[in-house]
Amino acid sequence: MAEMNAPGGEPILRVRGLVKYYPLTQGILFRKQVGAVKAVDGVDFDLGAGETLGIVGESGCGKSTVARMLVNLERPTAGEIRYKGEDITRLSGRALKAVRRNIQMVFQDPYTSLNPRMTVGDIIGEPYEIHPEVAPKGDRRRQVQDLLDVVGLNPEYINRYPHQFSGGQRQRIGIARGLALRPEIIVADEPVSALDVSVQAQVINLMDRLQSEFHLSYVFIAHDLSIVRHISDRVGVMYLGRIVETGRDAEIYDHPTHPYTQALLSAVPVPDPEAREHRERIILYGDVPSPAHVPSGCRFRTRCWKARERCALEVPLLAVPAEFRYESGPAAHDSACHFAEEKQVVPQEEPPAQPPAEPPEEQPEKRPGAPE
Ligand SMILES: Nc1ncnc2c1ncn2[C@@H]1O[C@H](COP(=O)(O)OP(=O)(O)OP(=O)(O)O)[C@@H](O)[C@H]1O
Ligand code: SF4
Ligand SMILES: [Mg+2]
Repeated sequence: MAEMNAPGGEPILRVRGLVKYYPLTQGILFRKQVGAVKAVDGVDFDLGAGETLGIVGESGCGKSTVARMLVNLERPTAGEIRYKGEDITRLSGRALKAVRRNIQMVFQDPYTSLNPRMTVGDIIGEPYEIHPEVAPKGDRRRQVQDLLDVVGLNPEYINRYPHQFSGGQRQRIGIARGLALRPEIIVADEPVSALDVSVQAQVINLMDRLQSEFHLSYVFIAHDLSIVRHISDRVGVMYLGRIVETGRDAEIYDHPTHPYTQALLSAVPVPDPEAREHRERIILYGDVPSPAHVPSGCRFRTRCWKARERCALEVPLLAVPAEFRYESGPAAHDSACHFAEEKQVVPQEEPPAQPPAEPPEEQPEKRPGAPE
């Protein structure tokens, strides 16, 4: 079946048949629906407690739309999101508020997602206005200072403004805000994409540490497979509103079977020069089709070098391909391709070195006239 099974036990989050269509309308006086943007078109996955699920795909494939539905910023057109067994897409009022507290989001752009006119203390403590039960008024300042400390920022910065911080520090503030209500799940929508490469590793290391400290489960979204590699337990590769291949990280990186994943992997930066020389480059031609005009059959067929007649006629299911069904090897994972074949695109690396220790905290940028 088209699903990503969380190892062991009931998943903390179970997503089935998730769909989001945005209506396309025409006419000024009498608006008529003439089609739909199929931003998310049938997504299934499980998230196990304490697990990190990486979701990867090119721009416009529906990653942020999935994220917004998970945290209830948008209602799905169809499908279920079950949190500990309960379908949260049908909740409202107090029940919805209680669930929302447990599923928080960290946004992509730390430059625009923080209100420039609010102090860091007000930004991080804002969720307490909606959930005063988590931190009574008299205790909020201390709680915010604790959170600053937890994300590696000086608690004395509580009265400063976002522009006084570097990009990496601002994302730490975004993470502290995400943690304020002590959620169980964090949906991080490209949390490091807007940061310099050197700072990306620091923020990922921080998220890794916070995961163990606060027993968090992550849905970690990125457009590049290399970013999620060291933080994800499992990965789902998205194309045009659907997950096309899923598996444990080693299955996806070292034994991909879907042509799209293989193409994405052929483009990831490889640090080892020898491995880089031996990797196979697969060039994807053409643009991603519009989600308002999804190709028939396999939605990847207009860019797939292996496409044949069957690909235009039959939608490939996300399942373990028939030829791998009776083996337990790494190729036996879900792949939505009629002609799935194992292909090692990048020569296997040596086991990764330990991630670098977190360097000392960056100093906030001093701007003339900035408030202290
Ligand atoms: N409110 C909306 N109305 C109409 N179309 C929308 C709306 N929001 C998103 N879309 C469309 O849905 C598709 C998926 O968008 P989404 O933002 O989820 O993609 P994404 O994978 O997050 O892309 P990116 O990597 O650029 O952030 C895109 O084609 C987008 O234009
Ligand atoms: S089903 Fe056909 S078009 Fe789709 S990925 Fe497989 S080979 Fe390519
Ligand atoms: Mg996005």
